[in-house]
Amino acid sequence: MANLWVKKSVIELQKEASDSEKGLKRTLGAGALVALGIGAIIGAGLFSITGGAAAYNAGPAVTISFIIAAVACALAGLCYAEFASMIPIAGSAYTYSYATMGEFIAWIIGWDLVLEYALGAATVSISWSRYFVKFLGYYAIHLTPGMTMSPWDSATLADGTIVNGIVNLPAVFIVVLVSLLLIKGTRESALVNNFIVLLKVTVVLIFIFLGWGFIDSANYTPYIPDNTGEFGEFGWSGIVRAAGIIFFAYIGFDAVSTAAQEAKNPKRDMPIGILVSLAICTVLYIFFAHVMTGVANYTSFQGADGIAPVAVAIEHMGTAGADGVIQPAYPWLNKAIIIAILAGYSSVIMVMLLGQSRVFFSMSKDGLLPKVFSAVHPKFGTPSKSNLLFMVFVSLFAAFVPARVVGEMTSIGTLLAFVLVCAGIIVLRKTQPNVPRGFKTPWVPLVPILGILSCLAMMVALPGDTWLRLLIWLAVGFAIYFGYSVRNSKLNNPNK
Ligand code: ALA
Repeated sequence: MANLWVKKSVIELQKEASDSEKGLKRTLGAGALVALGIGAIIGAGLFSITGGAAAYNAGPAVTISFIIAAVACALAGLCYAEFASMIPIAGSAYTYSYATMGEFIAWIIGWDLVLEYALGAATVSISWSRYFVKFLGYYAIHLTPGMTMSPWDSATLADGTIVNGIVNLPAVFIVVLVSLLLIKGTRESALVNNFIVLLKVTVVLIFIFLGWGFIDSANYTPYIPDNTGEFGEFGWSGIVRAAGIIFFAYIGFDAVSTAAQEAKNPKRDMPIGILVSLAICTVLYIFFAHVMTGVANYTSFQGADGIAPVAVAIEHMGTAGADGVIQPAYPWLNKAIIIAILAGYSSVIMVMLLGQSRVFFSMSKDGLLPKVFSAVHPKFGTPSKSNLLFMVFVSLFAAFVPARVVGEMTSIGTLLAFVLVCAGIIVLRKTQPNVPRGFKTPWVPLVPILGILSCLAMMVALPGDTWLRLLIWLAVGFAIYFGYSVRNSKLNNPNK
């Protein structure tokens, strides 16, 4: 009879980490880890999802949603920091839970991380597509609308006709491009990452500073629009739902934990990398959202334009002529910012697809998934078959599903992973109190309990159909676990 709760030994994992260290150089200091975090964090959440969350859920109070989500992330981040300093191994949340809560929970996390990484990549690629279409538009190049949106999206043409999407080809293009780069083994060097981080932070700062002068305080009235009568549509329930949606913008700080084996001093620097990158992004996000909803009314972000809210906001930075049409004050700004966004997104998509292949690689090595996910290409040294399978999987979502749906699934999936990581810290303190760790989450069990509650609150506020999709996804996962994984698990079948 298989033991669903069989655990990996923390001591063994620590040994494994130091064995594999032989090949890895410890080159990353605290600053590089913070840059790594920011590179993975700033992306479609800020430049895209904020628009829809303001338009449909929170209005200008989306700034409050950013604060709520930041608090939840900080609590979860403190728990991640303890794990990352104790089990400095690349499998991240999946490995942590295998060591603390056993195989079945580890399976749930690993399976659930597909939502974070694969669907996260799909979400960013859809937003990439939207900005790409906008950018081409500035040069009078117009792609057929049907080829740039999912069948569930529509756009209103200049003559007022409404067209439906068929397939989002630019989104597929960027997924294929990044996947092929990953297969060839192109890893971003720290230098490229630092450049992209600088670019993204500069874009955000320019947007805040130039936009500040065009804030029209009328756009802040009412700051918290009245609830429509539906839960989650404005009012306080809308603010909490928006927090669950824009939570997406913070995803990525956990990616710092996967670099634990390359950190010079993981005990000290892991917590710094995780928590400082989160803090910097939080401050930038709140100001950014404040300016975005100040220069343009939140209703301007409805419809497909909500996916490219930065462009909409910049179009509002100007003075209205006699005809009421706004003459943009910085016509060059949109093009410059969009180029930076398109480049910046590629790095987020790459981190996500890389994270996805790492987690499935570990699960496959443990016997929980077929060997195809850990087969390494003889020449490139990358899990190329796994990369190809995920290229197809992610492309299908990028092509045919709206950004909001995949974005919310990413958020709910990641929130569930955070809940389990927080719970893992409580279990770890009970079961392995004496194993040395470089960083200790303060005030256990208060911090993890508050982390669990705040993540659960955002999950509860997400729409019912997102919950349904999560449950279906988990049901598929259970079927695979009981149909395949228990029978092939290395820990459960040591003689196999
Ligand atoms: N936080 C990342 C983004 O917003 C996933 O794109």
